[in-house]
Amino acid sequence: MSQHPFVPDDAPFTPEQRLWLNRAVAGPPVPVTVLYASQTGNAEGLAKKLVKDLKKGNFLPTMSDIAQYDAAKLPAEKHVLLIASTYGDGEPPDSAADFHKWLMAESAPSLAGVKYSVLALGDSSYPDFCQCGIDFDLRFEALGAERIYPRVDCDVEFDAEYKAWSQGIMSLLAPAGAVAAVPMALDQEEDGYSKNRPFPAPIIRQYNLNGKGSEKRTHHIEISLDGSGLSYQVGDALGVYPQNSAALVDELLRSARLSSATTTSALSPVR
Ligand SMILES: Cc1cc2nc3c(=O)[nH]c(=O)nc-3n(C[C@H](O)[C@H](O)[C@H](O)COP(=O)(O)O)c2cc1C
Repeated sequence: MSQHPFVPDDAPFTPEQRLWLNRAVAGPPVPVTVLYASQTGNAEGLAKKLVKDLKKGNFLPTMSDIAQYDAAKLPAEKHVLLIASTYGDGEPPDSAADFHKWLMAESAPSLAGVKYSVLALGDSSYPDFCQCGIDFDLRFEALGAERIYPRVDCDVEFDAEYKAWSQGIMSLLAPAGAVAAVPMALDQEEDGYSKNRPFPAPIIRQYNLNGKGSEKRTHHIEISLDGSGLSYQVGDALGVYPQNSAALVDELLRSARLSSATTTSALSPVR
């Protein structure tokens, strides 16, 4: 619970006016540096989301790919939130190799005065689960930085962990003057299409690439992203949520003499 007075939700202001007024009460926005170390975009996507979430509160976020970050600035940072994935055998993503080497070196500077937290991405099927995030977390601490929120190690599904981690940090920073007095209307703004809100893309072309008589079936499929705001980039992964054809399902049920009301746990033929 914040100690700061708020403009109540039912006060006669627009959401933007209420946000502005609440910020005026809360004091200057809290600077937060978001760094990401990513190979295939998961950590980068979460970093972008974090910046968006921070902007809804009284924070002043700046974001950088760790590959482009000027490491000499690190000792002077106030709050660093680092999102890092792990590759190879417990190694940093390619983009983070130089920073990792610099940080681990004996010559690394003191980080006293820096407050930080790490969100580590990984896959528990690898032996060195989240090792890069663990390395960063422990090294920041060893160099004198203050861990303001415990590291969270995320497996392949990370949305819930991200949410808990980011919200935990934001509410922790709030009593220090970063009142995240987010009007509901702004908080609930649409985030566009994502893994959790897939875009139903129509198939616009599809044909079998194999010649007549071939036993193999390799299909060329084109899907349209029109109206989604999404654009395909090399390396992007496509998630497919298949839907059964209603006509085929009916036919199958008829052939198997099953009722569409029958649940799979209690399958019994219709007599
Ligand atoms: C080739 C390869 C190697 C990986 N090695 C590890 C590993 O050693 N430890 C781990 O926890 N996760 C490992 N992962 C999983 C990634 O860290 C995980 O998929 C993460 O979400 C990727 O995030 P990014 O897209 O930001 O790079 C590996 C993934 C790939 C494709």
